Amino acid sequence: MALVTSTEMFKKAYDGGYAIGAFNVNNMEIVQGITEAAAELRSPIILQASAGARKYANSIYLTKLVEAAVELHPEVPMVLHLDHGADFETCKSCIDGGFTSVMIDYSGHSFEENIAESRKVAEYAHERGVVVEAELGTLAGIEDAVSVDADKAMFTNPDEVEEFVKRTGVDSLAIAIGTSHGAYKFKPGTDPKLRLDILEEVARRLPGFPIVLHGSSSVPQEYVKIINGHGGALKDAIGIPEEQLRLAAKGAVCKINIDSDLRLGMTAGIREHMQAHPDHFDPRQYLTDGRKYVKDIVAHKIVEVLGSDGKI
Ligand code: G3H
Ligand code: 13P
Ligand code: ZN
Repeated sequence: MALVTSTEMFKKAYDGGYAIGAFNVNNMEIVQGITEAAAELRSPIILQASAGARKYANSIYLTKLVEAAVELHPEVPMVLHLDHGADFETCKSCIDGGFTSVMIDYSGHSFEENIAESRKVAEYAHERGVVVEAELGTLAGIEDAVSVDADKAMFTNPDEVEEFVKRTGVDSLAIAIGTSHGAYKFKPGTDPKLRLDILEEVARRLPGFPIVLHGSSSVPQEYVKIINGHGGALKDAIGIPEEQLRLAAKGAVCKINIDSDLRLGMTAGIREHMQAHPDHFDPRQYLTDGRKYVKDIVAHKIVEVLGSDGKI
């Protein structure tokens, strides 16, 4: 099977009460860890590349790595998606470069500007068989290219979603209900709760329409402990409780974005390896352990959070 769009995937996920994992890819070992887990568990998958990933690895390398995964696992439906496309030009370059899905993230602009840019991307993409995700509302976050102060984070206003989707023609919508980017999502002692009431209201206004959650890493504490027990210093790293994501996946949420948890897995594997084998200097040795934890984490998400196992 060649790369696919998410259209069919989302329809089945919506009707089946599960979600598709959208995992960020930055290098070969991450692509391998994700796709090996998906193949073993017979789960469809979305591989997504951010601006930072494209700058780090070069978009052509990432595209070819994903194409290699498609060739090795032809039974697995895979989408290659642009994560947080900043503008029309970025989206266009990915559409022209073989991506099957793009996100236009104009959520930091005015409602009207967001509509105009998202619509422009949707028109260009649809003429070429590519699907489009847009965003309404703003997430808090501390990632490189995605930086929003916590106090500026705005929940999605359900009153706006119907008009937005109708006027843009986009295929899926990312909403802000309390998730955020990075490994420090909540202050210690606070109640990590999503606004599932907003999600329900959005779903009521857009029946059958696929909703996307960004910033959905759960920051598994066993990996934080491995990192901190082997020379790391991650203080008060807190993520989204898995049971809340599971509830969202059973409802209208069809795509759940996870990056930070994979970073934790890769770092935990490498740190553990380095401390156990201070004499090793072959990257294949420590990257094997990093890749193993990435695969374990993706497998756990597929079965325990997304519910997408056995859906091929
Ligand atoms: O949404 C943000 C993703 O985690 C990508 O992060 O821009 O550091 O690649 P990045
Ligand atoms: P996390 O930082 O929670 O993994 O979110 C990733 C994301 O939203 C990518 O778009
Ligand atoms: Zn995101």
